[in-house]
Amino acid sequence: MESVAVRYLLSTTGHGALAPRAHLATDAARLCLNGTWRFRLSPVADLPEDFAEDGYDDSGWDEIAVPSHWPLARRDDAWGNPIYTNVRYPIPVDPPYVPTENPTGDHRLVFDLPEGWPGGDAVLRFDGVDSCGRIWLNGVELGVTAGSRLPSEYAVGQLLREGHNVLAVRVHQWSAGTYVEDQDMWWLPGIFRDVTLLARPVGGLGDVRVEAGYDHRTGLGRLRVDTAAGAVLTCAELGLERVPADGFYEFEVAPWTAETPRLYRVEVATGAERAVVAVGFRSVAIEDGLIKVNGRAVLFRGVNRHEFDPDHGRVVGEELMRADLVLMKQHNINAVRTSHYPPHPRFLELCDELGFWVIDECDLETHGFQENGWRRNPTGDPAWREALVGRAERMVARDRNHPSVIMWSLGNEAGVGENLGHMAAAIRALDSSRPLHYEGDRSCRYTDVYSRMYASHAEVEAIGRGEEEALDDPALDARRRAMPFIQCEYGHAMGNGPGGLAEYQALFERYERLQGGFIWEWIDHGIRSRTADGREFYAYGGDFGEELHDGNFICDGLVFPDRTPSPGLLEYKKVIEPIRLRDAGSGAFTVENRYDFAELSELVLRWAYEVEGVEQAGGELPCPGLAAGKSESVALPALDLPVLPGEAWWTVRAVLAADTAWASAGHEVAWGQWPAGVPGGGSASAAGQPVGARGTADAPALVQGVIEGLPVDTTGPGEGTAEGWAAARQARFDERGRLVEFAGIGLVAPRVDLWRAPTDNDAHALAAKWRWAGLHRVHERTVSVERDERALTVQTRVAPAAVDFGLHVTYRWSEAGGVLRLDLAVSADGVWNVPLPRLGLRLALPGGYDRVEWFGLGPGEAYPDTRLAARVGRYRSTVDAMQTQYVFPQENGSRLDVRWAELTDASGRGLRIEGDPVFQLTARRWTSEQLDAARHQTDLIPSEHIWLNVDLAQHGIGSNSCGPGVLPQHELHAGDHTFALRFTPLH
Ligand code: GAL
Repeated sequence: MESVAVRYLLSTTGHGALAPRAHLATDAARLCLNGTWRFRLSPVADLPEDFAEDGYDDSGWDEIAVPSHWPLARRDDAWGNPIYTNVRYPIPVDPPYVPTENPTGDHRLVFDLPEGWPGGDAVLRFDGVDSCGRIWLNGVELGVTAGSRLPSEYAVGQLLREGHNVLAVRVHQWSAGTYVEDQDMWWLPGIFRDVTLLARPVGGLGDVRVEAGYDHRTGLGRLRVDTAAGAVLTCAELGLERVPADGFYEFEVAPWTAETPRLYRVEVATGAERAVVAVGFRSVAIEDGLIKVNGRAVLFRGVNRHEFDPDHGRVVGEELMRADLVLMKQHNINAVRTSHYPPHPRFLELCDELGFWVIDECDLETHGFQENGWRRNPTGDPAWREALVGRAERMVARDRNHPSVIMWSLGNEAGVGENLGHMAAAIRALDSSRPLHYEGDRSCRYTDVYSRMYASHAEVEAIGRGEEEALDDPALDARRRAMPFIQCEYGHAMGNGPGGLAEYQALFERYERLQGGFIWEWIDHGIRSRTADGREFYAYGGDFGEELHDGNFICDGLVFPDRTPSPGLLEYKKVIEPIRLRDAGSGAFTVENRYDFAELSELVLRWAYEVEGVEQAGGELPCPGLAAGKSESVALPALDLPVLPGEAWWTVRAVLAADTAWASAGHEVAWGQWPAGVPGGGSASAAGQPVGARGTADAPALVQGVIEGLPVDTTGPGEGTAEGWAAARQARFDERGRLVEFAGIGLVAPRVDLWRAPTDNDAHALAAKWRWAGLHRVHERTVSVERDERALTVQTRVAPAAVDFGLHVTYRWSEAGGVLRLDLAVSADGVWNVPLPRLGLRLALPGGYDRVEWFGLGPGEAYPDTRLAARVGRYRSTVDAMQTQYVFPQENGSRLDVRWAELTDASGRGLRIEGDPVFQLTARRWTSEQLDAARHQTDLIPSEHIWLNVDLAQHGIGSNSCGPGVLPQHELHAGDHTFALRFTPLH
């Protein structure tokens, strides 16, 4: 016979909790029970209940912080470890049963009521227990929680006593709820959100429901508050002074939007209790096939946000929540999907305050059933109806007062089934004011918005045109065709990337039906860990010895685990910038306001005029106070400057004029850059000035001397110029014509290189092809080494073992205008059926040449399809600082469109490389092979060299770790390619 302990784990609903209600801050007494509790971990669930008794002696137990996840509360394995699986369940799929081995954490807290505690009714609130908790107060069982990310309240007034109170909570890692909580994240049990005791005064508020609509035609806000009988409302700003709460009020208001998050603090009071509710007046509707807020279509520049802290898992404090939102605001993000569960309640208050559009998602995912043909999927099983409907109702009851929440989502990846319909009906019954979202049912049977994840650009475009593939059911098809479209997930931000964001944004802006999307995802869920010798790294799936895991798929965010913005976030910021600044010709530029509501009133425009990356003039212009959607042309200042050689560029930046809640004055919101004509006199091409133009006389001295490995000066300058002679004598080649020394610096000779350590986006499909083709192990066969009076010409064939295709390469070294010039010509030999990771030269310098200055795109990394955030300038960095530390090591750090770069040592000696016209530069202390072999950042051990890749090009990045690959225009293929470089010594 099964014991009680085992049976309640099979309950899909839990029991004992009170009806759900809003999360309110009132003036009634409350006691936060977070803190240090007693803790004991057992390997199974079926245990005696004596620990709940009053007199139980827990002095032999450990202590634990509440809130916490026990596997992270102690990091010595004693309390188990996190488990990461994406889709697959870490337990047998046998619903509602769970394994006998079921880590169970008994938590105990003895607390005193504070002085003046009012007595009478009280509730004990648990904001989140993963996956279920059985609760006792003073020896009496209160019930069992279900729904890890949903609150449960229990009536405890009659149980509280003046002296010691004993709260006992038995938390199980696995329960029936596990089957509907299969989100792609760490499995982390524990009491991970707040525990609070709330006095419930007689005649108190109970629940408060606020409806605050806005009519954009009249400018009137409408307020209705549903709460305890006899309650009154007060809000001086709205002219309300203790008016009956059950009235219906209208006033002229400033509406709430994510761009203008205007809140009114409305006091709701009975004689016994008072709450202040932040009210935002706004309406959401689907009209004309569009999601409209306050009558206007909105464009989501969103992210999917999981709750995550690298040390504490899903225990996130207010500071971290605010930090996330501030960082999002600073990066032009205006929308959050709370993937895939209702967030900590404070998070939504902060969204109201700072201004975000929020899709609030229910705590439901059953993705692992897909692995089993969706058999017994709870979404379609009547036995789960009550549980799933209950989850939906609890979310809505808790969160419906938030103006930021503009859509409800039924859950994520839970297949199809009637329970979705029951959830939808229950949500509409509680709140008909918001559209419903759910991506997993493509027919949109129960929803109001057509949503997809990772649809390709082509599919998104087809949807934009209304030309998507038809559903089998014509009625459903017609219904869906009339719906607005969002990508609830796109741009998979795993490792280096995502690429192709600009092309998505262009579609979103072109077709009104496409109302934007939400990048997957905000943060890498790497867990801060240490190697045996104490070096810090971020752990991912498999690092804890899990028997099933999905590796580093857990690290796919726009910010690293410590919330350092990744290059992907910087790219996204630029792609979605709400102000466009563009060259308008004739000494003017256009300012375009791409906000949906906000005027450009809080900005100034800072301009700079630079030649070769050096500022010649700069200043400030007022920003035209444009209404949303409008543009205007602004004249650039007329400059009277001497004409300087080099490339001249205008840069205009829109920055905050004053401090806001999320950034200080001077914060850059958007920028534009374009080549200048006169003054400056430089080239107006983004590709820069051809460097070969500076000198033409090739020096035979160079060729003759070096090929024999002799110093050039033994043969004299010959026909070369004095400068040429000087440059030439510094270059030494070996008998195969390889440059082994330059400017007294010993080199690992430049050779053609095709390999890059695959990115996460390459890894999905491309890397296997590349490895099959052997691009990580090419050999170079010297075909000929010839010198004539003008040049040293080396011909080679570069190819991997086992295949019959390769590249013909010609290196032509010559002296030109005092520098050493290389012309490289590459052509394909045979049939290539894989793209190239990169095409260029690899060489190495001694490790001391680690200071880098360049003129080109920067300051950060850029690739063909992730280059928007990089701008033309002159930058200074170090090799170490040029690395992007993706949690899983991979190709990173490339600087694009480099006109020239200088690598120097501490004394300023070194090497200058110029492109003809540009090259792509990567510098690191390890080779691509070492980077490829590394699994964590701590595997990367600096070598004695600086390895340089000087590339003609690299293949794009794409988003194929989950989504489309590289767009054709960003692919790199073997074919006829030429490029030229010039090398100059620096003394
Ligand atoms: C989606 C899913 C997310 C995440 C993502 C890949 O299918 O909804 O939770 O798993 O793929 O990282």
